[in-house]
Amino acid sequence: MPTFADKISFCIMLLKGKEIANQIKEEIAVEVEKITSKGHRAPHLVAILVGEDGASKTYVKNKELACQKVGFTSTLVRLPETTTEEELLTKIQDINNDDSIDGLIVQLPLPKHISENNVTQAIDPAKDVDGFHDVSVGKLTKGQDTFISATPYGIVQLLDRYDIETKGKHCVVVGRSNIVGRPMSILMSSSGKRGNCTVTICHRHTEDLQRYTTMADILIVAVGIPEFIKGDMIKDGATVIDVGITRVDADTPKGYVLKGDVEFESAEKVAGYITPVPGGVGPMTIIGLMQNTLKSHQNKFNS
Ligand code: GUN
Repeated sequence: MPTFADKISFCIMLLKGKEIANQIKEEIAVEVEKITSKGHRAPHLVAILVGEDGASKTYVKNKELACQKVGFTSTLVRLPETTTEEELLTKIQDINNDDSIDGLIVQLPLPKHISENNVTQAIDPAKDVDGFHDVSVGKLTKGQDTFISATPYGIVQLLDRYDIETKGKHCVVVGRSNIVGRPMSILMSSSGKRGNCTVTICHRHTEDLQRYTTMADILIVAVGIPEFIKGDMIKDGATVIDVGITRVDADTPKGYVLKGDVEFESAEKVAGYITPVPGGVGPMTIIGLMQNTLKSHQNKFNS
């Protein structure tokens, strides 16, 4: 007798973030064209990268490439690992005061001697396209218009483009980070588009995690532990959003493979929809950032 999972395994839907991101990039490029044809300058994003972390270099490179693709100006400020917090804060102030710049991100993580909180709070909220400033988080929590942290913003749009119903559904978010889990939980419970869920947040102290994850219509996992969620922790037909992307040592030309927080092989047998890693959430995060940068420019020029 085939199980429900057997029956649906042929109709598993991949949520192809990369494809959707490419579509949205074309839409943004059209907006940029309109802006520049009115005589305004193009939106300008600055990224600061401190140190030599390999994954961070790749993320920043991808953000720069996306800027090029949509017609934004992008500037990468590279600072050595030994940069002091004061030097970094001074650089941020200079950028805050520069009217030719719409958005500023400081790639995280930062070297241990620099306070991430001091740095994220030093960014002018009007340029906080990562949505990490207390002002942005506070406004998001109150349902006010603001820059929404890029990964949650990208995920909501992915759900929207695939027309996945969220209203009245049970969304379980595993992970409570300031970058993903917490803002994600707020967004999914708020009254906007692709919100209106009943939300449960799970974290390292949750007892009997499986009890909650198997209740999820929409399961969003952001813990940074490769293959943490297995198929038997997922409800039949659930939508699974895998935010994790960890380099795991492997005998490949690069010396590593990328793994999500969900064990894809067992999850795809149960889930209705699932994001692949890579090519799922990652490209949508970059879209969230591009849209926030466009929004910042529009706020300034009313364009
Ligand atoms: N490190 C991991 N994700 C992010 C992100 O979305 N923004 C920044 N600035 N750093 C990150």
